[in-house]
Amino acid sequence: MGPAPSLLAISDLHVRYAENRRLVEGLRPRSSGDWLLVAGDVGEYVADVAWALRLLSARFAKVVWTPGNHELWTPPDDPVCLRGQARYEHLVTLCRDLGVTTPEDPYPLWDGPGGPVTIAPLFLLYDYTFRPDGTFTKEAALARAYDVGVVCSDEFLLHPDPYPTRDAWCHARVRQTVTRLAAVADGPPTVLVNHYPLVRDPTRVLRHPEFALWCGTDLTADWHRRFHAAAAVYGHLHIPRTTVHDGVPFEEVSVGYPREWRPRGSQPGYRQILPPAQPTRSR
Ligand SMILES: [Fe+2]
Ligand SMILES: [Fe+2]
Repeated sequence: MGPAPSLLAISDLHVRYAENRRLVEGLRPRSSGDWLLVAGDVGEYVADVAWALRLLSARFAKVVWTPGNHELWTPPDDPVCLRGQARYEHLVTLCRDLGVTTPEDPYPLWDGPGGPVTIAPLFLLYDYTFRPDGTFTKEAALARAYDVGVVCSDEFLLHPDPYPTRDAWCHARVRQTVTRLAAVADGPPTVLVNHYPLVRDPTRVLRHPEFALWCGTDLTADWHRRFHAAAAVYGHLHIPRTTVHDGVPFEEVSVGYPREWRPRGSQPGYRQILPPAQPTRSR
């Protein structure tokens, strides 16, 4: 008998970087029953995303993916020039061909150790509500960010078509997702997987506080309680750690760029979500 299966998570693989590609090539399950949650920012080019998800889906019993902002960019030199919703739908089709679960699929049930839990991959984006202190509108907040020179590349590369704005796309996604989550709220606890933190707290440690504008939405602040989360998995901040909010562990599982992880002295890998590796404590 092999080792018991685990629910594992990772994000921000950024496989454009050769060192990160090698790291992905080294990712192997410990048990043939392991599932891997991939919380966005696999890469910017469709071919890169396909390469990584194909490799991982061949190794893990199930791979669950949710997009990061980088997957939704339209790099000018990507042969796939789709924008916005059409680009997302293209990636969903690619995932389905590989057997990878997306936010558009029925939420899978993890029935292994630590379960049962409903795994809910979420695609929610952000709506500029994580505003810097003293700013009260999106416009004022963005003006502040431009003033200090902290502007996410999404402003130039993540097109919201056919929505007028990224925040309008976010609001549409939030509306659709609430309905989906409400339908499973009476079932087992959930593991909520989103590229962005569902609560603002984890963004308080950003070196540039203005960057929080591109990191989530206030609309999800109570979702971990409302939808009975056993854990919330996210990335995007490139600050891997665990924080606890209302007793729920929030796992930032990013790999990040080589220049970020190299100085830490050890190769980043996936994190075990279930069964819990250690008892949850408040901090
Ligand atoms: Fe990232
Ligand atoms: Fe990101």
